[in-house]
Amino acid sequence: MDTPPAYQKCINPKCSATFGCEEVLFQCPTCGDLLDICYDWNTVALPKTLADFAGRWAKRNERLDFSGVWRFRELLDFCPDRCKVSIGEGQTLLQQNGALAAELGMNPDGLFLQYEGMNPSGSFKDNGMTAAFSHARMVGATASACASTGNTSASMALYAHSGGLKATVFIGQGKIAFGKLSQAMDYGAQTIQIEGDFDDCMRQVQDVCRQLKIYLVNSLNPFRLEGQKTIMYRIIEQLGWEAPDWIIVPGGNLGNSSAFGKAFMELQTLGLIDRVPRLAVINAVGANTLTELYHDKKLRWNNGHTDNDAIKAYYDGLDAAGFRPHTVASAIEISRPVNLKKCLRALEVCNGVVLAVTDEEILDAKAQIGKTGLGCEPASAATIAGLKHLLAEGTIGKDQRVACVLTGHPLKDPNATVDYHSQMQRPFSNPPMHAANDLDKIIALIK
Ligand code: F0G
Repeated sequence: MDTPPAYQKCINPKCSATFGCEEVLFQCPTCGDLLDICYDWNTVALPKTLADFAGRWAKRNERLDFSGVWRFRELLDFCPDRCKVSIGEGQTLLQQNGALAAELGMNPDGLFLQYEGMNPSGSFKDNGMTAAFSHARMVGATASACASTGNTSASMALYAHSGGLKATVFIGQGKIAFGKLSQAMDYGAQTIQIEGDFDDCMRQVQDVCRQLKIYLVNSLNPFRLEGQKTIMYRIIEQLGWEAPDWIIVPGGNLGNSSAFGKAFMELQTLGLIDRVPRLAVINAVGANTLTELYHDKKLRWNNGHTDNDAIKAYYDGLDAAGFRPHTVASAIEISRPVNLKKCLRALEVCNGVVLAVTDEEILDAKAQIGKTGLGCEPASAATIAGLKHLLAEGTIGKDQRVACVLTGHPLKDPNATVDYHSQMQRPFSNPPMHAANDLDKIIALIK
């Protein structure tokens, strides 16, 4: 189809301005709020059931059917097929992890880990980047940029050079894990380390993109979030098109949680699912804006009438205190999440909960995920750390079905892993042993 039935719409109900998809905006030009991609579903040729999407597995030699994002293209129909960029993203798996479930005292059939580390750049970002770069191609963009704690930059750099665009990444000085930094450099992006943190970079990149007319691929970009919806489609596909009881996701800039809420909102509107899962968004204690606003300030979506003054007062307070977020989970070391409002909407759609976990809890959970499963980077382990709290307080029942999104590959941040195992005396530390170059002494060490 050459004119897709999609448009951009401001999420602020007092504004609700709409714009065509050929416009490059990233925030509402009328009121400055976030934009959504909306569809005129009556004109989309949707399959009758979600199971029809699975038929595309049989046509994996076709570029768009092979993509774990574009396989679901009718549910994100904002650009013509000829513009769709793909490098094989979304070949992920939902691992049922009985061993970890047992360690957590859950029903062994009930715990699933959605391993997004299998994406081309090793994180969930590729789901969004394939969508953003498809839009970039549609509008003829030649240069891209992002602020990043690392994974967005790695993913952007990969998609940019695959599509022949220039790429500039802004990262906070010393705020990025080495695996991710190495990717941005290796994939040929111009890497600018700003003396500041992610939030500073996020502010700067918006002005840079505005002034130089560069295409911004941060999750402010509503097209990116359309791609990230497919993580949820793949989870329910693996569960026989049934929603689990819970989805658990780490919260940083809050793009993923926002996209997940939108995915379920739309599937429900379309009558393609009977039941929406509950959503748990997990912050790190040192970067817990969402948790504080949600619990202490009782901030809610409120049909789009979110209390902007409360948000502003909170941020003013952070500035006055000279607050800087800090967590070992550098991917989510963010104190001004740009998708805050959309995340609040997702929490409402999915009857969600929010909590924050400590760095120690994150690192312990990460070691348990590595010991029983495919491993992940620290931010991803916030999911299992959060799950432990939710089980302990009875919010999640031990016999419920829970899917945790492991957002990034374990090799993204090898320093965190090696430090935990070799330097810290933690419950799951597995330090390397030292042996003389002597067979008997080596054998004596084998447990
Ligand atoms: N997990 C990982 C591994 C991430 O890289 C990020 C975000 C998140 C979770 C949080 O997701 O922002 O959608 O709430 N990383 C961004 C980046 C900020 O720049 O790579 P979110």
